[in-house]
Amino acid sequence: MFPHTFSVLSEGFAADPYRYFAQLREQAPVHYEPTIDSYFLSRYEDVKRVLTDHEEFTTGILEVRAEPVMRGRVLAQMTGAEHAAKRGIVVRGFTGRALQDQMRAVQATAAELMAPFLPRGRVDLVNDFGKPFAVQVTLDVLGLERKDRQQVAAWHSGIAEFITSLGLTPERRRHCLECAERLEARLLPLIQQRRRQPGEDLISKLCTAEFDGIALGDRDVIALIINVLAAATEPADKTLALLFKHLIDHPEQMAQVRRDPSLLPAAIAETLRYTPPVQLVPRRAEQGAVFAGTTVPPGATVFCMIGAAHRDPEAFTAPDAFDIHRPDLGAARSFTAAARHLAFGTGLHQCIGAAFARAEIETVAAMLLPLLDRVRHSPGFRYRESGLYTRGPVALPLDFTPRPVP
Ligand code: HEM
Repeated sequence: MFPHTFSVLSEGFAADPYRYFAQLREQAPVHYEPTIDSYFLSRYEDVKRVLTDHEEFTTGILEVRAEPVMRGRVLAQMTGAEHAAKRGIVVRGFTGRALQDQMRAVQATAAELMAPFLPRGRVDLVNDFGKPFAVQVTLDVLGLERKDRQQVAAWHSGIAEFITSLGLTPERRRHCLECAERLEARLLPLIQQRRRQPGEDLISKLCTAEFDGIALGDRDVIALIINVLAAATEPADKTLALLFKHLIDHPEQMAQVRRDPSLLPAAIAETLRYTPPVQLVPRRAEQGAVFAGTTVPPGATVFCMIGAAHRDPEAFTAPDAFDIHRPDLGAARSFTAAARHLAFGTGLHQCIGAAFARAEIETVAAMLLPLLDRVRHSPGFRYRESGLYTRGPVALPLDFTPRPVP
């Protein structure tokens, strides 16, 4: 039997949760974690049920898990007409012509950040490139100034820590709230300026948009900005690094993608299935519920374990194999509401940034692959991941044969 002492908060689980997923699904599919009074669901069908039954399983939990650092209510807390209208406003900022312009900016940012490491033949794809790249791209989309990157990145990491921690000390909590307050203070004058002189950026679109004939107030705009900043930045650099890690570890699939870059969307989709960067999605079980014979009481916090659900053999054949050709995933629908994987969530609150994330990662991977000739892990490197909520490589040092920059 699965040991009663098992905890998702243990060091062993933090080091490699994938080692435990099969046992959890088979022996403890509704794992209760007493210190944080929460239930962890690991089977695909249970996770999908929670994410699609919005009456029984609500996002009420975000009042405490997100709202304090978002400085207002986030999209994921809303339902009905308000959710549809505000979601529509934000989606407009990431689709159609806006998306084409953004991909030009993505290329320029990637080229600028690549330039210093290309002649060296060595890069840490997480810390030298992925993290600054993801923050910069989000700042560009929002229309925040580039000179603020480091400062905003520091505030963002405090905000992300608040949302993704399963147990914050009072000191860390204070620090995170201070980050959010400072970001809010920086954003307020900018919002006033964009109300007077709107541009093409997302902040301008939020400032000029109307909901029910009424313009969004400052608090609404701030919460939506921080919502996008947190939601778009965290998973992007992780997905890029994980894509390269899996392709390097599967040289025959790397060779296929190099020969035929139209396979990139399938490789990105399989990366999101195999190692989803958002591992946990929380909900509140309003009336209580029964999963696999175990009762979850009314008002309980349930965490959907996306990584465990994706390795469920009931959902995917040979789930522990990384296979960009797997027929049971369907690359074409993997970035739409019909996706089989749950990396973007599913149902009402499914990610609005899926198309953007695909375009962003595909654009930058297509630029990097031909430049990183014979790319391999740097000698002596020991692979490590961190994060229970969002999860990705701590570092990814790579060696490659430098090529002249075109
Ligand atoms: C690989 C990249 C990404 C992954 C894996 C990801 C994952 C997710 C997940 C799992 C959810 C659902 C949360 C829930 O059900 O409570 C979500 C929601 C959301 N995501 Fe993403 N995301 C990514 C990129 C982005 C980007 C680039 C943006 C912005 C452009 C974005 C903005 C949002 C927003 C605003 C929501 C809330 C939607 C709502 O509640 O209606 N995400 N994302």
